[in-house]
Amino acid sequence: MFGRKTAVEPRMTWEKNNEAAVGAEIKVENVSISFPNTANGEIIEALRNVDLTIERGQFISLVGPSGCGKTTLLRAIADLQQPTSGEISVRGQNPRDVRLQKKYGIVFQSPVLYDWRSVRRNVCMPMELMGLPKKHRTKMVTEMLDLVGLLDFGSKYPKELSGGMQQRVGIARALAIRPEILLMDEPFSALDEFTKEKLNEDLLEIWSKTKTTIVFVTHNISEAVFLSDKVVVLSPHPGRVSAVVDIDLPRPRTLDIKNEAEFGALVAKVRSSFEGV
Ligand SMILES: Nc1ncnc2c1ncn2[C@@H]1O[C@H](COP(=O)(O)OP(=O)(O)O)[C@@H](O)[C@H]1O
Ligand SMILES: [Mg+2]
Repeated sequence: MFGRKTAVEPRMTWEKNNEAAVGAEIKVENVSISFPNTANGEIIEALRNVDLTIERGQFISLVGPSGCGKTTLLRAIADLQQPTSGEISVRGQNPRDVRLQKKYGIVFQSPVLYDWRSVRRNVCMPMELMGLPKKHRTKMVTEMLDLVGLLDFGSKYPKELSGGMQQRVGIARALAIRPEILLMDEPFSALDEFTKEKLNEDLLEIWSKTKTTIVFVTHNISEAVFLSDKVVVLSPHPGRVSAVVDIDLPRPRTLDIKNEAEFGALVAKVRSSFEGV
């Protein structure tokens, strides 16, 4: 993703996102994606006729059981997978142009850190590949580590950190290039419940500071409801959108909200929206 030097300057502040807080950020129109099944020659319909509109600055979750096409949809938005048919546009541009302009930040389930680089140098990596000036890199690394609560751990190495801390480094690294869109694929699913819930709360705080549009993939319904403005329910065989549930819980949210009746009702609503599971 960061394998190419470019003259594209990243945003130096977050304000640019605040300027235009409304409007279609990502439009997915009638997208279908199929893969040939190499084992038996049949076609796997990973996604069928997906329509989705994501507005600027929103926090959206894609939720569904394993194999329903969540990663495939995220990859298509990131220009890492081409739709078989249909179209995706991001701020009116095609995803490839958006990718080349370095507007995406991506966080995967496993943070893929470089063991031989310190935390600071891991966070710095994409900015180095972009050829950004050292002064800017140093400032950004400090700012991002502060944002994810790891300011005192910059000189540590990944193996010296817990899984939750490693994932925070992955988030800091993705945010360091000031992406306008943050794509997160099950970033906390390998973590224990306590760490995950803490990171969920922290992620909302980071999001409220950065105003980045977030597309978050999870198979955890409660996590999706807690975080999101909108939960997109994907059902399998073939992968398709079976419901879009608006989450109108007040913000800022803390974990206490999970004890509220409205929260339980929204979880039940999402759960009942799955088809054919
Ligand atoms: N590169 C690929 N080649 C063949 N099949 C794939 C490929 N990527 C995904 N699939 C298939 O597409 C379906 C959806 O996969 P995926 O998007 O990874 O689902 P999820 O992330 O919801 O678990 C699955 O049946 C998976 O096996
Ligand atoms: Mg997946």
